Amino acid sequence: PDANTIAVIPGDGIGKEVVPEGVRVLDAAAGAFGFELAYREFDFASADYWTRTGTMLPGDWFETLRGFDAIFFGAVGWPQVVPDHVSLWGSLLQFRRGFDQYVNLRPTRLMPGVASPLAGRSPGEVDFWVVRENTEGEYSSIGGRIFEGTERETVMQETVMTRVGVDRVLRFAFELAARRPRRKLTSATKSNGISVTMPYWDERVAAMAQQYPQVDVDQFHIDILTANFVLHPDWFDVVVASNLFGDILSDLGPACAGTIGIAPSANINPERRFPSLFEPVHGSAPDIAGRGIANPIGQIWCAAMMLDHLGHDAAGAAVLAAIEQVLARGPEQAPLTPDLGGSGTTAELGAEIAEAVAGAGAAAG
Ligand code: NAD
Ligand code: IPM
Ligand code: MN
Repeated sequence: PDANTIAVIPGDGIGKEVVPEGVRVLDAAAGAFGFELAYREFDFASADYWTRTGTMLPGDWFETLRGFDAIFFGAVGWPQVVPDHVSLWGSLLQFRRGFDQYVNLRPTRLMPGVASPLAGRSPGEVDFWVVRENTEGEYSSIGGRIFEGTERETVMQETVMTRVGVDRVLRFAFELAARRPRRKLTSATKSNGISVTMPYWDERVAAMAQQYPQVDVDQFHIDILTANFVLHPDWFDVVVASNLFGDILSDLGPACAGTIGIAPSANINPERRFPSLFEPVHGSAPDIAGRGIANPIGQIWCAAMMLDHLGHDAAGAAVLAAIEQVLARGPEQAPLTPDLGGSGTTAELGAEIAEAVAGAGAAAG
């Protein structure tokens, strides 16, 4: 079979440090499991590109990227050079919308060997997926500023929910829940206070639930839901949320599971009309960038999700198993990064996981 084509976009800050470790592990997986990946790296979607060109993306980015099988993305944002809303609306958010990546799938899993800030929790008790709506909702470009500079200065930004947009992400979440052993789905809402869009979200959840009688459905308002992530993480299996609520929950979940440094995300176009994009949940981390201490596992777990998406299931499973195996050895026995209590570097941890993947391939024959 032909090689899968991967567009590699490191972006800014620690994106440039963790992406090479993701590629290192992808190479190990391809070698061990006998398939080919053809990469092409792009320097756009970065502050450097902005400084050089005054834009975040070239005019033909859509045509340039659309033929790739997947996009392997680091992080974008360098607020000292370009304001965050400019860099993000100029790049990542364009990709999500342009390529109709309407599902943002983000696992939270407490891994063996990782210390959770939640006292007394062990791995099986924190293991759920956040399914985040990724193309509409609170992230809308509809709104504006009027009477600027006067005392009547007013700003507005509309939340947009469409039936197609809400139903398609709900369907994905229900399908996922139906395949999981617990078959449980929790909806994040705020229909007590946000009185138009959120009651609509609840209505569509109730309608979809009728089609999935085997799925056990509940819902919480976002405020108490965040509390329950901390108090009762074992309650959750699949959590479906609007764009903003899903954004918040997908940092909170991984923090409860020890560190946001290991959390991956898949921005998926389920119909495969366009490439899906795989990026860690975290950002460019300017506070630690350039020191070689960023945790590469979020990016490496993205590699596992991308391999699954490309149909290399055994390789994807081997990458996840390698992550688990290296984490389980703990900071004394493995070169874990400082966020995991160790003193390993980004490259040492990446190399350790790549080696475990190569070994798994050899064992699998
Ligand atoms: P951040 O995720 O970059 O960092 C938050 C905190 O977590 C920092 O203390 C950082 O050091 C730590 N951290 C993050 N990733 C880590 C890793 N892999 N290993 C160890 N520690 C890690 O969030 P922020 O500070 O709010 O944002 C910084 C920039 O990144 C901003 O420009 C923001 O807009 C952007 N951002 C981009 C994305 C993305 O590209 N998907 C996501 C979030 C934030
Ligand atoms: C994420 C990020 C982005 C988001 C930002 C950087 C626009 O926080 O991928 O979670 O809000 O979606
Ligand atoms: Mn986020």
